[in-house]
Amino acid sequence: MRVLSVASECAPLVKTGGLADVAGALPGALAGLGVQMRTLLPGYPQIMAALEGARRVLDLPDCFGGAGRVLAGQGGGLDLLVLDAPHLFDRGAGIYLGDDGRDWPDNPERYAALSHAAARIAEGGLADWRPDIVHCHDWQAGLAPYYIARGPAGGHVGTVVTIHNIAFQGLAPASRCGALRIDPADYTPEGVEYFGQLSALKAGLMFADRLTTVSPTYAEELMTPEFGMGLDGVMRARSGRLSGILNGIDEAVWNPAADPLIPKTYKAAKGKAENKRALQAEFDLPQSDGPLCIVISRMTGQKGLDLLLQALPVLLGRGGQLALLGSGDPALEYAFKEAGVHPNVSVRMGYDEALSHRMMAGGDAILVPSRFEPCGLTQLYGLRYGTIPLVALTGGLADTVIPATPATLAREVATGLQFHPVTAEALGNALSRLCTLYEQPKIWSRMQRNAMAHPVGWDVSARAYAALYEGLAEGQA
Ligand code: ADP
Ligand code: GLC
Repeated sequence: MRVLSVASECAPLVKTGGLADVAGALPGALAGLGVQMRTLLPGYPQIMAALEGARRVLDLPDCFGGAGRVLAGQGGGLDLLVLDAPHLFDRGAGIYLGDDGRDWPDNPERYAALSHAAARIAEGGLADWRPDIVHCHDWQAGLAPYYIARGPAGGHVGTVVTIHNIAFQGLAPASRCGALRIDPADYTPEGVEYFGQLSALKAGLMFADRLTTVSPTYAEELMTPEFGMGLDGVMRARSGRLSGILNGIDEAVWNPAADPLIPKTYKAAKGKAENKRALQAEFDLPQSDGPLCIVISRMTGQKGLDLLLQALPVLLGRGGQLALLGSGDPALEYAFKEAGVHPNVSVRMGYDEALSHRMMAGGDAILVPSRFEPCGLTQLYGLRYGTIPLVALTGGLADTVIPATPATLAREVATGLQFHPVTAEALGNALSRLCTLYEQPKIWSRMQRNAMAHPVGWDVSARAYAALYEGLAEGQA
């Protein structure tokens, strides 16, 4: 089984969020299951610099405003195909945003080009490798199933779209149809039209053979107006083709027993004490014994951090501490910096992979108060590191944490805490419950053991993807 995975970011090479982790982990997770996966990525400077043994495998003279070519090579331990198109991808700043913090104005063309290259590969553009399945991630690869369906590979190559976050829809004015190589006849509500604009994500949702998202609960939520972000009708219409497959984490990278990035490795949670002291010192927090809560997050409305600001007095009133690492919305960054004047609150603005490991190792609990969360990875790292997740009851957070209730505590199976509705008041109550549980060392350490034993790897989900590909490939001519 040959699968072309198409993504706009991929760990460890280039990452803004969990999509990169998943795109980076899938090839390895599937390798033992008879799936040979190659990953098509944009030729950003970071990717070009990391590419080893590059050879040109496909020329694309007319690549959305300039010449492009596909290079094959290795990078970050992955088998890569890279769309080398300097006029689209050779830019200094962020991968999606310019220096002014706004989307690159030609993002629709940049990712249309990536999707178009995927379609060319699906059509047999490479001399020695043709995929059975094209697996497209998020809106950036959303036009690939459309180009494939409308081209010579239509009906011969299976297409899968995975929704990592339906909030990002790849919108462009209808006037860009020509530039994006969309047949005006497809600019309809049954095609790529979405409330008067064209949507690359909707194109994927309408034209792909199968749709997946990254947790079973989010798959259900997507079909509701509350979470579908205007595409819930599409999701309902295609529900027979939709499944939710939970993300895993890379258990080699996130392994407290062998993590080279943490002060002291540990197999059992009691080994966390030294890491906690080190983390308190690093964040200039007093060496107190209350629960040290951590947050590692993009700072956007999705993540519910404004609720945490409101609920923070509850945690601090019970002797807890907060260490936060994040970046994003300037107003939220500012508000957390202000909150940081409290001696038991400390914040680091920015993106720091190594620090995120030290926080996982040293924290007692990780807070994820998201308003919506397709899957979420940091609560999974928390489980693995015995850092108890306190999460909102939504999406993948609902699917991965066993909340402490009288029943789950009696059965000794609880791994964390959940709160609902997603309000500051409910979060405050949950923080108070967290402090109460933390004050009962026997119960707390039982939860830590449960958490650390909870399976968070790729085994089950990799098999689900392999079965999906196989079922789909059987149906192709
Ligand atoms: P999302 O993709 O919505 O941002 P996820 O929880 O799926 O949410 O993935 C976020 C990923 O990005 C995790 O690997 C997390 O550790 C990482 N991350 C987020 N913010 C930071 C940061 N400021 N520094 C380091 N890692 C971060
Ligand atoms: C998105 C979602 C997050 C998910 C990640 C990887 O960024 O916001 O919940 O874990 O994609 O699938």
